[in-house]
Amino acid sequence: MAVKRTPFIAGNWKMNLDHLQAIAFVQKLAWALADAKHDFADAEVAVFPPFTDLRSVQTLVSADSLPIAYGAQDVSAHDSGAYTGEISGAFLAQLDCRYVIIGHSERRTLHHETDADVNAKVLAAHRHGLVPVVCVGETADDLEAHGPSAVPVAQLRAALEGVDGSKGLVVAYEPVWAIGSGQAATPAQAEQVCSALRALIAELLGDEVASATRILYGGSVKAANIASFLREPNVDGALVGGASLDIDEFSSIVRFKKHVGA
Ligand code: 13P
Repeated sequence: MAVKRTPFIAGNWKMNLDHLQAIAFVQKLAWALADAKHDFADAEVAVFPPFTDLRSVQTLVSADSLPIAYGAQDVSAHDSGAYTGEISGAFLAQLDCRYVIIGHSERRTLHHETDADVNAKVLAAHRHGLVPVVCVGETADDLEAHGPSAVPVAQLRAALEGVDGSKGLVVAYEPVWAIGSGQAATPAQAEQVCSALRALIAELLGDEVASATRILYGGSVKAANIASFLREPNVDGALVGGASLDIDEFSSIVRFKKHVGA
């Protein structure tokens, strides 16, 4: 039986907003959503600030009981030890992070993260009770050479090696050519890949996990195009970059159901 998946709107801040700016931003976002009477059953909201902001965000969210989830943009594959500059999932769990982004294309490209690294990080997230937001996506060259689904499906297959499906999972399909380009995929393109990803999850982790897993689209999402993606049966939300840094735009994306009557 199909499970109802709560849409998930996630803001990946990348390397933007320091901890003071983060406090002001999250407070204002919470006010904007409260003013608009946002129903969190319509869309769960999460922000992914830089590591140095997380303690401040935790303090604010917990003191004011804000209905906003948060997580980190990366996690170490290791739990502790001589890994200069890395952040353990144990530390993120202590900060009440619910989620962690793993395998973003900027990490794969700029930091040469491999599919094996991504898999090790997914396993590390689960060891610490964090829900990984596993990012997959093809480059423009991949698209031309292999078609739309082959590379994202292969990346997800590798990321899920040895993973326990009961520990929670979110997948984000982010075509590299659509990130920060202003040129989003079409809803039909997103649906094609997201449905292939769901079929793979069913194959690897079973139908129940596949029907419960939220699969997001990311890449030049804005208020003007969000509803068209959410109308697709296998797209359950968005991982938003640039537009997540603007409170009006981001809260409008979160309220996609209301402002377009979708
Ligand atoms: P943009 O929304 O800026 O295209 O970024 C998408 C992204 O990379 C989110 O992780």
